[in-house]
Amino acid sequence: MITIIRTKNYDEMSRRAANIMAAQITLKNDSVLGLATGSTPVGMYQELIRRCEAGDLDFSRVRSVNLDEYVGLERTHDQSYYYFMNNNLFKHVNIDPAQTFLPDGTCKDTEAECRRYHDVILGMGGVDIQLLGIGGNGHIGFNEPAEAFAARTHCVQLAESTIKANARFFASESDVPRFALSMGIGEIMAAKKILILASGKAKAEAVKGMVAGPVSPQMPASILQFHPDVTLVADEEALSLL
Ligand code: F6R
Repeated sequence: MITIIRTKNYDEMSRRAANIMAAQITLKNDSVLGLATGSTPVGMYQELIRRCEAGDLDFSRVRSVNLDEYVGLERTHDQSYYYFMNNNLFKHVNIDPAQTFLPDGTCKDTEAECRRYHDVILGMGGVDIQLLGIGGNGHIGFNEPAEAFAARTHCVQLAESTIKANARFFASESDVPRFALSMGIGEIMAAKKILILASGKAKAEAVKGMVAGPVSPQMPASILQFHPDVTLVADEEALSLL
C-alpha cells in the first residue's frame, strides 16, 4: 500500500522525509537503514545532520546498507557512492563507520561481490526502513526497466537515459560508469518499511507509473504497489500527473 504525502516543494519534501527517518531512529535506536544516493535525498540528509548536531537524533547504534554503487570508481572518486555517503551524511553524524555498508564497486569479481553483499543484507537481520529515489524511467536502486525483476544484488548495465541523467555529476557523459552493483527488487521489497522521495516534473511520469500503472518490470517502481508499507513523499510537480 502506498501512502502519499504531498508537499509544496523540495524543501518541504526534505523536512517531511526527515520526520519519518527521525521517528524511525528515535523509536528504534538500533534501526537498520537502507540508504540511497542521488540529488533527491540530499536535503533530507542535511535536515538529519542538523537534528543530530542539535542533540535531537542519535545515530550511535544505527546500521546502514546502501542500495548501489558504480562499478570501477575508487572510493576516493567524488562521484562514488561511498564518497557521497561520507560527505552527505556519515561524517557529519555519530554513526559508527564500521556499521555502514555499500557494495564494493572496485571488486575484481562482481558476481562474488554481489553474493557477498546479499549476505551482508541478510546478516543485518532485516532492513527497518528503505529509502528510495526514483529514476525518470522508473528505476529504483539501479533496477532499470527490464524483462523481469531481479531478486538479489546484481551487476546492472545502466540504461542510456540513466547515463544521460547522471552525466550532470561528471565532467562528460563518457565519464559516467556503464555498470553498477545494485540491490535487487527482492531485497528492496523485503524491507519492513519503504520511504520513497520524488521531486520535480522530470519524475512525474515515473511517479504516475509507480502509483497508478500496471505492475511491470518495465516500470520497476510499480512493484511497490505490492509492498504493505510504502510512504511516498513527493512535491506537487512530481505528483502533477496523478
Ligand atoms: C541512488 C539510486 C537511484 C536514484 C535515482 C534518482 O542510490 O539508487 O535509484 O535514487 O536515480 O536519482 P536523483 O535523486 O539524482 O534524481
